[in-house]
Amino acid sequence: MTNEAGGRYDGGRFRRCGASGLSLPPVSLGLWQNFGDEDSTETGRAIIRLAFDRGVTHVDLANNYGPPPGAAEAAFGRIMATDLKPFRDEMVIATKAGYRMWPGPYGDGGSRKYLLSSLDASLRRLQLDYVDIFYHHRPDPATPLAETAGALAQAVRSGRALYVGISNYPAPLAVEMADLLQALGAPCIIHQGRYSLLDRGADDGLLDRLEPAGIGFAAFSPLAQGLLTDKYRQPATPPDARMARSTTLPPERLTPAVRALLDALAAVAQRRGQSLAQLALLWVLRRPAVTTAVIGARTTAQLNELLDAATAAPLSDDECQSIRAACADLDHRRTNT
Ligand SMILES: NC(=O)c1ccc[n+]([C@@H]2O[C@H](COP(=O)([O-])OP(=O)(O)OC[C@H]3O[C@@H](n4cnc5c(N)ncnc54)[C@H](OP(=O)(O)O)[C@@H]3O)[C@@H](O)[C@H]2O)c1
Repeated sequence: MTNEAGGRYDGGRFRRCGASGLSLPPVSLGLWQNFGDEDSTETGRAIIRLAFDRGVTHVDLANNYGPPPGAAEAAFGRIMATDLKPFRDEMVIATKAGYRMWPGPYGDGGSRKYLLSSLDASLRRLQLDYVDIFYHHRPDPATPLAETAGALAQAVRSGRALYVGISNYPAPLAVEMADLLQALGAPCIIHQGRYSLLDRGADDGLLDRLEPAGIGFAAFSPLAQGLLTDKYRQPATPPDARMARSTTLPPERLTPAVRALLDALAAVAQRRGQSLAQLALLWVLRRPAVTTAVIGARTTAQLNELLDAATAAPLSDDECQSIRAACADLDHRRTNT
């Protein structure tokens, strides 16, 4: 690989993850999509190498990313082995368990049985001795919170993970879990939640609760799976866009009200000389409580565009005001249709 540290850290701007000693880059690369068995191995490799060379030291995975489940971890493990092994200490590699991974009662949820065997399987696919962050991927109401916390703490004590986090937990449950983990000596350093201009729920109290609790926030899908990009302002959805290729972004999401919002946001972006995608990313990063934005990229050009934005001037108060007005208009249309 890949150039010596030359250039990798010049953009800097790492952000401290909650009250922990770990810093993360403002943009992290997620492998939920574009790294399955049907996707191009060479493109995936180019994306990961480019990301690391441009200072994206944090890669976000989960046991079930693919398709099929496990494929993204296996793909990343191969790239680690061939290209990135000498750089392991410069990287933060995260994985998760919490969704269905194998048949039967032990392949899903939040039990000690599931979490620890899933983490072992992830390490095998990743060809690693440890991950940097191990997350519980979603709350499991059928398992006592203390059992899930105990399994996460065990992952740290056994050396399989350096840090632990949670994902998709509502604010009160997140704080409860953080208290349990703190008592077990494995502090919850990060919460991963959906956050974008089209999904502003984290602004309704979650971020305000995490910051004082010393928990960082990884904002996932900051482009709303690509919806917040100029491609959806065209009359027809391009055939290579996620909406045309994946069930996770159904066409019903592109309502006339959303189209109007995209146009209004694009006008703000154009005044800054940026794309809509870049504006959407900068909006997520405007809050100091956001440690990192976990993006996806299908091409190296997409990744370059987003990384260029991360070092651009932050949004001004006037720009934030225009964006708020555009979003308020969307909210108004949503409640009146
Ligand atoms: N914890 C959880 O429950 C959870 C859930 C979901 C995601 N995540 C994490 O968050 C990561 C990111 O999720 P995401 O893929 O939905 O993120 P996203 O950044 O909102 O969407 C990524 C998609 O946007 C499009 N795109 C990216 N850059 C672009 C650009 N410059 N111009 C035009 N289009 C661009 C591409 O889609 P096209 O193919 O349409 O071009 C790309 O695949 C995941 O990989 C995963 O690590 C976590």
